[in-house]
Amino acid sequence: MLSREDNELLCRVGPGTPVGALMRRFWHPVCTSAQLPQPDCAPLRVRLLGENYVAFRDSDGKVGFLEELCMHRGASLALGRVEEGGIRCLYHGWKFSASGTVMETPNHADPKYAARLKAPAFPVREEGGIVWAYVGPQDQVPAFSRYAFMDAEPAHRVVLRINVACNYLQLVEGGEDSSHVGVLHTNMARPGWKDDEFTRNPDVVNPAALASNDLEPVLKIETTTFGFHYVALRKTDDPAVRNARVVPFIVPYGRIIPAPAFLFTVLEVPEDDTHTSTFIVVHGNAPVTEDKIIELLGLNDPNYYDRKNCTFTASWLDSFGQNRELMKENWTGLRGVEVEDASIGLSQGPLYDRSREHLVPADQAVVRVRRVLLDAVKAVAEGRQPAALGLDLSGVGACDALLEEGDAWQDLLPSHRQTAAA
Ligand code: FES
Ligand SMILES: [Fe+2]
Repeated sequence: MLSREDNELLCRVGPGTPVGALMRRFWHPVCTSAQLPQPDCAPLRVRLLGENYVAFRDSDGKVGFLEELCMHRGASLALGRVEEGGIRCLYHGWKFSASGTVMETPNHADPKYAARLKAPAFPVREEGGIVWAYVGPQDQVPAFSRYAFMDAEPAHRVVLRINVACNYLQLVEGGEDSSHVGVLHTNMARPGWKDDEFTRNPDVVNPAALASNDLEPVLKIETTTFGFHYVALRKTDDPAVRNARVVPFIVPYGRIIPAPAFLFTVLEVPEDDTHTSTFIVVHGNAPVTEDKIIELLGLNDPNYYDRKNCTFTASWLDSFGQNRELMKENWTGLRGVEVEDASIGLSQGPLYDRSREHLVPADQAVVRVRRVLLDAVKAVAEGRQPAALGLDLSGVGACDALLEEGDAWQDLLPSHRQTAAA
């Protein structure tokens, strides 16, 4: 459990909060590249860490990221016109370039006036099918962290965004919680559960395709420079061999989940205290399509996912679409990995109070997430570098493999060696 004070401390992300200060030191995904599909397309309103921004793609294809409200008198630039190398406010026509240059101020045409001003614009990168921005202290812009998915062939990669109306930490904790996989995702993890038979799910793209029927994994955790990684060890039929699932936690909200032939990199980006944009990037050495991933996640049902707005739409208004009749053969009465994960996260409420929970050893990685985040908050408050900041993360991965008695689980991912903390 977590004291109410620490719970509040870890969950609040707005300006002036401790986690807000931590998060503002990092580059963040702010939208998918597909949300700004071509030069001069419609701009996008973005909420990040409790503040509003506008993202737009200019006539040259370059992405700009500005404060949402026009610096003249505060009309939303998300309603603006994107044309001829900038974004123009509808109200009085002021126009801004992607880098924040004030290009025109039609109601005060003296060019010397515009030249003295600069619109609040932020550094932007576009990598791996995602637009990233940095909104923290401008004298502390960190190196841009690369992930392995950025080097994947586009046909071998799918990028999705799912906006979920709950606090980021609920979703992060779900992602660092191996023991829920065999239970919540029973339909996909243990397809024969109803007949008490363990059959393996043959879908090589499925991150919930467990190789073992053991519902009580033993966790081992090791600190790394990016946060930590942990292994969930599950029994197999051979007492000398265990199934090992290794998953990293990347400060402040990242994880990588293994599927048999793909990796799922998941970043839980806080929009504000009670809304999160989940960015999921699937990549591997084989072709994969967006339709396949959407179906796997259960998001092909329009009752759950608004594809245009990237929003998870199920709620208590429709009891998350749970089908009680279906539950005779389907554990949750829901369909798809993300539908199950998001519904559970939302069922905890918009911002869960952890002072009333009852933890068990299988929750150790969840506890470590909180500790590592509290350490990172402290590091920033004391002027030290938080974990993961500015690191090259392209060697960080995940795996699901067999481990012989006496072998070190860390050897399953040798690329994590350089990043294991001294
Ligand atoms: S408020 Fe934007 S131009 Fe006046
Ligand atoms: Fe899950």
